[in-house]
Amino acid sequence: MTDVRTALKRGLARLREAQVPSFTLATELLLLHVLDRDRTWLYAHPEEQISAADAERFFALIGRRANGEPTQHLTGKQEFWGLEFEVPPDVLIPRPETEHVIEVALDRLALRELRAGRKQTLTGEGLQIADIGTGSGCIAIALAKELPAASIYATDISPAALAVACGNAARHKVADRVRFLEGDLLGDVPPLLDLVVSNPPYIGRREAATLMREVRDHEPEIALYGGEEGYELYAELITQAAAHLKPGGILVLELGHNSLPAVQPLLDATSWTNVGVTNDLAGIPRVLAAERT
Ligand SMILES: C[S@@+](CC[C@H](N)C(=O)[O-])C[C@H]1O[C@@H](n2cnc3c(N)ncnc32)[C@H](O)[C@@H]1O
Repeated sequence: MTDVRTALKRGLARLREAQVPSFTLATELLLLHVLDRDRTWLYAHPEEQISAADAERFFALIGRRANGEPTQHLTGKQEFWGLEFEVPPDVLIPRPETEHVIEVALDRLALRELRAGRKQTLTGEGLQIADIGTGSGCIAIALAKELPAASIYATDISPAALAVACGNAARHKVADRVRFLEGDLLGDVPPLLDLVVSNPPYIGRREAATLMREVRDHEPEIALYGGEEGYELYAELITQAAAHLKPGGILVLELGHNSLPAVQPLLDATSWTNVGVTNDLAGIPRVLAAERT
């Protein structure tokens, strides 16, 4: 038997020694996961005894985290847009910067409503939306929650990712409004869409050696790499989006940290207008949005 404080101290020391980023948070999350408790409980009960079985499970997880497995793969979950997602190793772990995709998409849709003289709350009534490369389903499901009357298509080339996304949609009770399609980019998605959103793979294979081991060794390659440079998928994605969007339809793309100079010129003025770039909290151009002419 051991107590909460001692387990935390030992876990912290092991992860610090292994140079795990955010090792305090990782230790806490793993202990909370094993004990099925919340953070307030953890600090209110430092003397609480932990069973031998729980301590063994906790230190086994600490060992795996020290060896590079992401915390989210060990707990099986990640929060995105205030919702909890199952994130097994088949899908990219949703990142906080991807929430800017949702913000920009909702802002652009609201602006379009205003311009059309419709001031009522945006419910998504009549809207057809596609999320390309849905992974865990985080973008499609967050939009389905925000726009309860919208119809959403979510595609992925990975059947394993789609199975995870379907489970997440059911968990958040939006499975009846999100249609999951296996295929390449917009593949079988029907035309006349109002909104296309995508966080495509955008890391360059030539950057692989610079990635954290948690990412390079544990997240799916198909979700990470867009090609040798990283931005290779955007040209075809933008061409297909142009063919699938209604006039006035909106495109919102997440960008890699250095993708903007290669991607923005792909939005030619004959097909696209109102092009805008949104920086993330680190000041990196992260979201590119445009409207179909
Ligand atoms: C960067 S991840 C994004 C996942 C999720 N949308 C998110 O934001 O966390 C890219 C996703 O695109 C999928 N993908 C890669 N190539 C694709 C393609 N040609 N067509 C459709 N999906 C693709 C991957 O399987 C992966 O799930």
